[in-house]
Amino acid sequence: MKVLGIDIGGSGVKGAIVDTRTGRLLTDRCRLKTPDPATPKAVAGTVRNMAVHFSWKGPIGCGMPGPIKVGRMMRANNLHKSWIGVKASEVFTRSTGCPVVVLNDADAAGYAEMAFGAGRGERGVVILVTLGTGIGSAVFIDGHLVPNTELGQMELNGKRAELRASAKVRKEKNLTWTGWAKRLQAYFDLVELLFWPDLIIVGGGVSRRADRFLPMLKVRARIVPAQLRNEAGIIGAAWSAATKRVRH
Ligand code: BGC
Repeated sequence: MKVLGIDIGGSGVKGAIVDTRTGRLLTDRCRLKTPDPATPKAVAGTVRNMAVHFSWKGPIGCGMPGPIKVGRMMRANNLHKSWIGVKASEVFTRSTGCPVVVLNDADAAGYAEMAFGAGRGERGVVILVTLGTGIGSAVFIDGHLVPNTELGQMELNGKRAELRASAKVRKEKNLTWTGWAKRLQAYFDLVELLFWPDLIIVGGGVSRRADRFLPMLKVRARIVPAQLRNEAGIIGAAWSAATKRVRH
């Protein structure tokens, strides 16, 4: 099946048409800037522009940077606060004229890695952590997702962990790879203390440069970079729309 996958992030909105059977992108990726302020109306316009860019008339799966309950956005750390309580699936269905399902962006990336990437065939407790503008998480037990885990919001030295250790923080504070790895170490220590994962998959754009920081981390679980890199969010959003994983 062909589905338009869209990954809405704090800085960019990325999309491509995905073959949901193979997890392959059938088109180049299109990246539009996340509008500022990223209100529901403005983001709905960007999602419509994405559908128009691909002349798309079919189903759309959309990952969003916050917990989503039955299509509704429950928190908005990296989008405008007016998103809270808004039924995103309806807003986008209206703006595009296409059927849209929405889910948390890290859950989408996790689905993609479990189906087509570093988590394929993995049982036990698998945690995907995305390091980007924020920190997102997807927790799987024997391949089943526990949706909307927000492990970027755990407290780390008195602050939300994503404000200490995201990829954005590394850039903004000009941290060296070693300096950032120390923060990540403290973060993964906490993840291990609370969840005892068997496998940790590290995603987000920065996973491209995993060789610069992963070898410095000492964790009990196996820890590997995501295989689908920055495309995981797009692929997983499309895949979950096709496989009807999402309640909406
Ligand atoms: C949000 C998560 C999201 C993550 C990555 C966090 O600020 O709370 O829901 O998965 O950012 O975008």
